Amino acid sequence: MTLQDNQTFRDALATFPSGVTIVSTTDAEGRHWGFTASSFSSVSMNPPLVLVCLANAAESHPAFLQASRFAINILSQDQKDVAMHFARKGVDKFGPHEFRYGTPDDPHPPMLAGSAASLLCSARDAHPAGDHTVLIGEVEAVELGNAPPLVYYNRGFRELVSDTEEALS
Ligand SMILES: Cc1cc2nc3c(=O)[nH]c(=O)nc-3n(C[C@H](O)[C@H](O)[C@H](O)COP(=O)(O)O)c2cc1C
Repeated sequence: MTLQDNQTFRDALATFPSGVTIVSTTDAEGRHWGFTASSFSSVSMNPPLVLVCLANAAESHPAFLQASRFAINILSQDQKDVAMHFARKGVDKFGPHEFRYGTPDDPHPPMLAGSAASLLCSARDAHPAGDHTVLIGEVEAVELGNAPPLVYYNRGFRELVSDTEEALS
């Protein structure tokens, strides 16, 4: 069997449901960078490692390669607009939505208010992989929200539906 074409590959990937994240960092000049990513995955429990894949063509790519820390904000189901906004290039990404940045004495990468969870990571590795770079982060701190997550499936956003009310609580 051979891979017929790129479209078939994309169609196969579209059958896999995932969550949606905003990955964010702040550069040495204090400028914030971020992008929407569905390629988030856990990697290791001990140490606690996660990954996300970033396109080499992304405007934020140089900033993430330089970053010593980044945050992965797992979106809640009412944050579709944030997902769409951070997938746009050349816009003021951080203006329209509420983020926390820590204090001037103790800053941290941008954490999105209302996320299902935010993971603060120290950058461990960056592996080139085709037209993307695999960013590996070690999770230093976690903030848990209580909102249900946003789901991305078949090129669209979905909300989880449960058979029973109890299963969601
Ligand atoms: C649901 C969704 C998931 C995405 N997942 C990824 C991803 O995992 N990696 C990636 O590099 N881009 C992904 N993108 C595209 C980027 O968010 C988009 O290209 C963004 O503009 C890149 O940021 P920048 O070029 O402004 O740095 C995704 C877009 C959407 C809408």
